[in-house]
Parts: sequence; structure tokens; C-alpha cells
Amino acid sequence: MARLIVQPLSRPLSGSVPVPADKSISHRAVIMAALTHGCSELAGFSYGEDNVATQRAFSQMGVRIEDDAHGTLRVHGVGLAGLTAPADAIDCGNSGTTMRLLAGVLAGQPFASRLVGDASLTRRPMTRIVQPLGQRGAVISGTPRGGDGGEVTAPLSVGPLPAGRRLDPLEYQLPVASAQVKSALLLSGLWASGPTLLREPLVSRDHTERMLSALGLLIETAGPIVKLHPPADPLSIDPFSIELPGDLSAAAFVLAAGLLCEGAVVTTRATGVNPTRSGFIDIVRRLGGELSIAPRGESLGEPRAEITARHSGLRGQSVGGELALRAIDEIPICAALAARATGVTRFFDVAELRVKESDRIAAIVALLQAFGVDASEHEDGFSVEGRPGGRLRAAQVDSRGDHRIAMTATVLGLFADGPTVVDDAGCIATSFPRFAGTLRALGAEVEVEP
Ligand code: S3P
Repeated sequence: MARLIVQPLSRPLSGSVPVPADKSISHRAVIMAALTHGCSELAGFSYGEDNVATQRAFSQMGVRIEDDAHGTLRVHGVGLAGLTAPADAIDCGNSGTTMRLLAGVLAGQPFASRLVGDASLTRRPMTRIVQPLGQRGAVISGTPRGGDGGEVTAPLSVGPLPAGRRLDPLEYQLPVASAQVKSALLLSGLWASGPTLLREPLVSRDHTERMLSALGLLIETAGPIVKLHPPADPLSIDPFSIELPGDLSAAAFVLAAGLLCEGAVVTTRATGVNPTRSGFIDIVRRLGGELSIAPRGESLGEPRAEITARHSGLRGQSVGGELALRAIDEIPICAALAARATGVTRFFDVAELRVKESDRIAAIVALLQAFGVDASEHEDGFSVEGRPGGRLRAAQVDSRGDHRIAMTATVLGLFADGPTVVDDAGCIATSFPRFAGTLRALGAEVEVEP
């Protein structure tokens, strides 16, 4: 398994770099392109393993996808009634988004399918989609996880819906704000006999709503309430073109390295800044960090900007509520910023981190402690006592198979007093295959050992 060797920075980071396409939007673009009645073009696809898992799933269901291997996919959509039964189980790898969104799509199909994943995905909670999809008449079951209150996980068995049967309309209150659950239910609503009406405790990322609306589907949102009307005709969704924005969740690692490095000026190009997703920017500014944002247009309802980070002195703050939700995937790298801030930073309302690719609350606290930073867990978050002066203690750490923990460790290693080793770093390829090369392009010394 690959490991990264990270040397302490010997000069200021500087430069302007591209970041991989937004992972959330890429999943949705592949799914919706497959359901149109013609050929859609996706530009800027970045071949992170999670997105490739979604791409492969649709190939298994009879969707022809031409890939120029330089980031342009031409997806030959088959309409809402054209998917065909996959010959084998669909392997979602490490990708929770693939599994949950596909479950929504498969729930409406007249064929049977099975969704499987890697060891981490096979521990993650799936009752959150199995229960409401079942409520609207889907034939779906998970695998009992054992121990905790009847929770089910992967593998999932889905369908078939009996011939001529559609899913029922649904009114559902989500117990936790989750874009994956919301999107699974909205997607299943494309095969329903009536509307899908959802209410979330807080507004989670709205990429699905934006895309469905840009494609002409009848979808209304009012704060945390969203309502989708199913299209009458299975060939009603027109093909489209999208320039996928860069992923703010990937950019955050690069920008954080810039914020922490004396003399640094670091820019990420064409980065997605959807406001339901841009909590990282607001958290950085709350900590006193300097980020400048230059708008760069939008594609299919998703805004992009060039983001520049400059070295900044940071102060500890509290981060919770909707701000934390809008940065849920960036909390690990925000913890690295907190590790270099003056005073204490408390992250709360982030219990969902316990059911991500790893228990990220436990993983972050262990990681910070390995670098000599005081950190402690709470039930719904953690606290960090910053160490703004001097260098961190160089460490040898394990990623726990979690890409965002591996990348957070790498950024911390740039500010350590000797070489840092990040074991089990191959997982970085799930979201940011060129991470080490991107840091090198900015002046860091990061080597990949196979
Ligand atoms: C995602 C939603 C979030 C996020 C995940 C991607 C999406 O998960 O953590 O990385 O694309 O919908 P939840 O919706 O489960 O919080």
C-alpha cells in the first residue's frame, strides 16, 4: 500500500493549480446524463475512484460512455425507461455517494440489482435510505450490521419493482440533514406516481436540486423543504453539456497549506463555490484567514471562482450548526488550521463525522495528538488547543483508509520538524489522484512510495 513521505517546507508555497472536478457534482452529472434521451458531454472529469465507480455502474446498466481519457466523457443517455439489468453486483468501492444515490435510481427499476462496497463502506449506515425508499414501495433491503439498534449496511439488494408498478409519492422528514439521503429520495422520485416532498433539519448541499432544475424538471425549494414532481414522459430529459467545477473539498487542502505557510500565495482555479457547500471559506475567515475569491462564471447552475489563500495568523473559534454542515467534508482540514491557531477551537454538531469513511472525530484527534497538538473528543465533535509557534512534531501516521485524513496528515507534515510518513495513502486516489503532484507544483517535497 502506498505511503507518502512529506518533508518540512523549505520555501514558501506559491503558484496557481487546478483541482479535481467536484466529486458530488460529477456523480450527479453522470447519473443525470445517463437518464437523458441523447448524448451529454461532461468536461473536466477527474477520474477519482469514487466517480469512476458511478461511471462504471452505468456502463454495467447498458449506458454507452465514450471517454477521451483527458477528462471529457460523452454519455449516451437511455432515458428513464432504458436502463438494463447489470450482470453482476455493482461495486461502489469506497463511495457512499455512489451507493446511496444509485439505490435511489435502482429503487425505481423493473430489474433486480445488488450494491456492494469496500470494508469501510460495508460499515456505513444504510437504514437512512433503505427505510424511506421502502416507505414509498421500493423493494430494498440491507445487511444487518449487528449490535446497534437494527442498523443495516451494504450489501444492498434492490428491486425488481413488479411490472407496470411505479413508486408511491412520498412525504418525508429527514432525521439528519444529508444530501445523499435527500438526493437518493429525489432521484427515486423520477420513477414515482406522484410528488416527492422532503424536509431537512438544515439545508444540506443542493447540487441535485440545481441540476434537476437546470434540466427543466419541476422542482421547488423553500429553505429546507424541497418538492419534485415526476416527469410524465420517460424521454423528457434533454441531453446537456457541463463544465465540471473544481472541488472545493479538494482545494481546501491546498488552500490550507497556503494559509499556514509563511510567505505563501496559493491559488486554486475554477473552484466550485456553491453556497450550500462553501462553509470552508467562511470558517477560514472566521479564524482570521485571508482568502480572496474571483468569480469565474457558472455551468448548469453551479458557480465557480478562483480562490487565493495568503499566509495568515489564525485565532481559535467555535464552529457548529449550519456552518459546520456546509463544511462537513472540510472539518478534518479545518482541524489542521485550528492546530496552528492561537487558542482553542471547538467543533460541535458534527456527530455525522463518526459515520464517514472512518470515524473522523476519533481519527482527527489521534492525528493531531501524533503531531504533538492537544485535542480531545466530545460526543458530537472535538476541541483543539492550537500551537501557533514553532514546528509540529514529525509523525508516522496511518490514514485509516480515509482519503481526507491522509491529506490532512500530509498538510500537517509540511509544518513538522522532520520527515512525516503517511501510511495507507493510496486512498487519496478516491478523490484527489494528483494530490502529491499538486503540492509539488507549489514547491512542497512530497514523495509517493509504492
Ligand atoms: C455528499 C454528501 C455528504 C458528503 C459527501 C458527499 C453528496 O454526505 O459528506 O462527501 O455528494 O451528496 P451526507 O449527505 O451523508 O452528509
